[in-house]
Amino acid sequence: MAKNDLRGVAVDELTPPDAAVELEILAAEIAAADAAYYQDDAPSLSDAAYDALRQRNEAIETLFPKLIRKDSPSKRVGAGVAAGFGKVQHCLPMLSLGNAFSDEDVAEFYDRIRRFLSLPANDAVDIVVEPKIDGLSISLRYEDGVLVRGATRGDGREGEDVTANIRTMDEIPQKISGNVPAVLEVRGEVFMSKADFLSLNQRQEDAGAKLFANPRNAAAGSLRQKDPAVTASRPLKIFVYAWGDVSGVDALGYGGDVDWPDQGTFYERLKAWGFPVNPYAKVCITLDETLALYQKLGADRATLDYDIDGVVYKVNRLDWQERLGFVSRAPRWAIAHKFPAEKAETILNDIVIQVGRTGALTPVAELEPVNVGGVVVSRATLHNEDEVVTRLDARVGDRVIIERAGDVIPKIVEVLKEKRTEGAASWAPPSVCPCPLKTTTVRPEGEAVRRCSGGMECPYQQVARLKHFVSRDALDIEGFGSRTIEAFWEEGVLKTPVDIFLLEEKDGTIDPKLEEREGWGDTSANNLFESIRRRRTTDLGRFIYALGIRQVGLTTARDLARAYGSVDVWMRQMIAIVEDPLGEAFQDLSDIDGIGPAVVADIVAFFGNPESRADLDQLASMLEINPVEQASNDTVISGKVIVFTGNMEAMGRSEAKAKAETMGAKVSGSVSKKTDLVIAGPGAGSKRKKAEELGVSVISEQEWLDLLSNKNDQLRLL
Ligand code: IVH
Repeated sequence: MAKNDLRGVAVDELTPPDAAVELEILAAEIAAADAAYYQDDAPSLSDAAYDALRQRNEAIETLFPKLIRKDSPSKRVGAGVAAGFGKVQHCLPMLSLGNAFSDEDVAEFYDRIRRFLSLPANDAVDIVVEPKIDGLSISLRYEDGVLVRGATRGDGREGEDVTANIRTMDEIPQKISGNVPAVLEVRGEVFMSKADFLSLNQRQEDAGAKLFANPRNAAAGSLRQKDPAVTASRPLKIFVYAWGDVSGVDALGYGGDVDWPDQGTFYERLKAWGFPVNPYAKVCITLDETLALYQKLGADRATLDYDIDGVVYKVNRLDWQERLGFVSRAPRWAIAHKFPAEKAETILNDIVIQVGRTGALTPVAELEPVNVGGVVVSRATLHNEDEVVTRLDARVGDRVIIERAGDVIPKIVEVLKEKRTEGAASWAPPSVCPCPLKTTTVRPEGEAVRRCSGGMECPYQQVARLKHFVSRDALDIEGFGSRTIEAFWEEGVLKTPVDIFLLEEKDGTIDPKLEEREGWGDTSANNLFESIRRRRTTDLGRFIYALGIRQVGLTTARDLARAYGSVDVWMRQMIAIVEDPLGEAFQDLSDIDGIGPAVVADIVAFFGNPESRADLDQLASMLEINPVEQASNDTVISGKVIVFTGNMEAMGRSEAKAKAETMGAKVSGSVSKKTDLVIAGPGAGSKRKKAEELGVSVISEQEWLDLLSNKNDQLRLL
């Protein structure tokens, strides 16, 4: 506690100057807790401690109404802090990057590219190497050379409109000229220099305002100001490195007015238009040259006046970028080579148990807060019990080394046993779940994870499932902070995701009504109802992911959505498996590329559980779940099931598969009577034979290429 903390004093004993000081401290503390909670999703206080701060603030304000501050927490609605910006749909998604952590990973990146493009092993692949700026990404839209909009990345598909704030940044040109496409979106990273960050924090401290944890947070906080005048007073900078929508481009962002042949030429154009491009960006021809620049940037890192957390490699040639395409949310043609994590020593104060949505119990370390590379860390993941007991032998009270790699949750990498206090007790995994049901925990043989046996009845699992359901990659329902969900759960207002969609109807019957609660009002309640209503329409991939089926992450959920197309078909097929466990539907599911037996078992278990089925049926009937837009339904292979076997020489297997999928085909891993076409390269064996036995068309790779380039003539083939 700060030394001028007056909380030991009863409110009615405070003098007005004391009250003013305390209100100021409370405003700063509550704002910091809100930011940790709503913006960083990393609560810094327990619910009870947070509530106590707010109650104290309210009590003082009631006694000293004249001292109510302009920035008083009582004037702010908790979850509403992020509200206030319009939404912007990105015409082309704003992507993220895959990561490489070692030289070997980078060599593998080169190999993957060569394999995908079917290039000989020693062919040069020009790569643009540049620092990975630790800021926040932004998209700037120019129409006829005039800046018309600035938007944050958001979830990659939808961001926030920050045009007014962006306009205050000197480094961003308002107008550009010289061979500018009619529509041009320029993307880059907004950041704050280390020096500007330190002086901003000094000013904040002098004004008794909240301090920023690191330059990245300061940049984000400055850009997302409701008042552009505040943004204008903050020295924000930018480096640009990508384009988004450009007049006439295809869905991947190529063609149309994108007339630069490679990434390097694009950067020259950006400079000519007046944008800041990072001076280190350079085309490297060999892997050695690439790694040498990585080393140099690592060595220069500390002397740079801005934070970088790695180096980005991008295939230079645009025709290759286009062929390489994307996986999930990241391009195949780019990767981020991260710098090693930053480390610090601290004390392990406690080991607590977190219960996940599927009942997995995860030990979490509570640490003496410590600064690691500019961020204060007080919790760390411990993965599972073997990590605590066997690998680390971590005991409460131990001194430990923790490390933080970028946005990754910090972890304990080493226990300093030589510094252990004598008699420290070793830690044992809990035999009962920490939830109020106190159900026994089980760790099935051969599994790393211990689980609560309470199933759908375990309150902690219910809460975790609700949080997962509303999270960004799932239904993405805004305004549902963790605290709101927990409070509603405790009152019995929310138990399963179905209840979320009944909330508005029930609002009149809950006491107090949502809009009458502390921290809420008519506007925030309406906003929540509105965002729930908005998400009554969703897409199949998100919906499947939101169900929280064990092992069904975002990628698997999207694969399932693509394979089955609509929620009805998907559910019907999954139910068919429960009814006939080894039938055709089972075979179809197992055939989906990337879905292994363990995932199949978990999906089937989910459908076999009457409770999860009942919830699912109800959700499916309440929501409008858009079918997956078929990539293309007018090609000769749309809707066809095809199998690649043998070596693909011209394209490589992954490229051939990606191409077939964008043309609307389903790519299966095995041949059955449902298969429409087999493409057999050299070396094809049993699959080719089986196809021939079943009378399925088999074509060579050359015939496949002809099919792609000359669709109609080949129609008869199928
Ligand atoms: S390229 C397809 N280049 O890192 C283009 N990203 O971890 C994808 N970032 O979302 C991004 N510096 O916000 C690229 N030189 C750089 C970058 C950079 C920072 C950020 C960007 C991206 C994130 C992915």
